[in-house]
Amino acid sequence: MTYDLIVKGGTVVSASDTFIADVAVSRGKVAAVGKITECAKRILDAHGKIVIPGGIDAHTHFDMPFMGATTIDNFATGSMSAVFGGTTSIVDFAIQTKGKTFRHALDDWHRRAQGNCVVDYGFHMIVTDFPEKQQKEMDKLVDEGVSSFKLFMAYPGIFMSDDATIFRALQRTRENGGMICMHAENGSVIDVLIAKAIAQGKTAPEWHALTRPMTAEAEATHRAIALAEMAGVPIYFVHLSAGDAMEEVRAARGRDLPVFAETCPQYLYLCEDDYRRPGFEGAQFVMSPPLRPKGNSERLWKALARNDLQVVSTDHCSFCMKAGVNRPGKELGKKDFSKIPNGAPGVEYRLLLLWDAVQKGRISENRFVEITSTTPAKLFGLYPRKGHLNAGADADIVVLDPNKSHTFSRKNHHSAADYNPYEGLTVKGSIRDVFIRGDAMVLDGAWVGRLGYGQFLKRTARV
Ligand code: URP
Ligand code: ZN
Ligand code: ZN
Repeated sequence: MTYDLIVKGGTVVSASDTFIADVAVSRGKVAAVGKITECAKRILDAHGKIVIPGGIDAHTHFDMPFMGATTIDNFATGSMSAVFGGTTSIVDFAIQTKGKTFRHALDDWHRRAQGNCVVDYGFHMIVTDFPEKQQKEMDKLVDEGVSSFKLFMAYPGIFMSDDATIFRALQRTRENGGMICMHAENGSVIDVLIAKAIAQGKTAPEWHALTRPMTAEAEATHRAIALAEMAGVPIYFVHLSAGDAMEEVRAARGRDLPVFAETCPQYLYLCEDDYRRPGFEGAQFVMSPPLRPKGNSERLWKALARNDLQVVSTDHCSFCMKAGVNRPGKELGKKDFSKIPNGAPGVEYRLLLLWDAVQKGRISENRFVEITSTTPAKLFGLYPRKGHLNAGADADIVVLDPNKSHTFSRKNHHSAADYNPYEGLTVKGSIRDVFIRGDAMVLDGAWVGRLGYGQFLKRTARV
């Protein structure tokens, strides 16, 4: 037997175990894990290195039109950024245009990704309209592998759904096995606070945070849990930022409700003070929900460690600080914080930021794999194809060098964004090699892959 690849002698970390082993790959799949004596076309020495399943980021926005701008990262640059950060699969968002079908949106997003995306990709569908005819279409999408749907309780007039629409969508997933992903912020209250702040001349970036209080997130989280409970279905909260919202999730899970939530590295590593950087610099961090006051992140770290939060995704949604030709960015909101396109880059930084948390004893190395790969695979219909390195899984393999440091900077990241929210932060750990379905994309930190290599991921529904 000659394998295509053996990753030799590394410390393999799974969601449950850590052990030294060889990982053999054949025809894009993990063929065996253990002491392997057979030959291979390629042997990669991984002694002293960490070998993990490729990261799965269940929340990215590449090539996304939003708030008068389009994200600077398209599927080519965004996925390059992903793969250099050790993420080998993403689930991005197609956006239904009000009055149009899901099909229309899905075709559009397939066109954006196909031939560009380096990593394997799936789509959630953003629901902006949900009349009777869309309900049947939702079932069809689930059958086609688009088995999750994002609804918004924020952004009135753009994305926001009322409770009846949310409840109808939740009820439908009881029939079709889809999963509702919720952006939980009380958008109506937030709009009142924004209008008041602007009328008082409070236009600087810090007012973005001050007009989106924690309670607006906690209230919406509580309401959405109640709606899901009445519909009798699971619910997943995206980009949970507030400790108070986390308490709602924790309480629901304490009642054995199937409630799940992700947080993002920005809510763990950055805080509200970042909005008060000099000049317009705070705009870098304008995202929704906003960064929270110092101290909040400690609550999220604890929740992650004890499984009150289950996933860390990035909500990568990058806009440049400086505009390009025909390419507006954050400066749209120079005179009015509410016009700053919401979002920040993140897909490349997630694994190393969380590996740093392993070094600091905040989470175990097994929990690190669980929240960045195994659980997102399970929740979003990618398991057992992805999310682990047992025989039969896709050979999405990341080799991390735990002894080499990495300094985050706009100068070395692969996103097209002109800033890095973690500029200058040094962590111990570096992504050395990345394989997707057994093919090398990054070797010794250098690009050896092919643009457009990524395949569409047809995801399964809940069983
Ligand atoms: O600020 C954010 N999060 N931008 C992306 C859109 C969303 O709500 O996820
Ligand atoms: Zn959102
Ligand atoms: Zn998002």
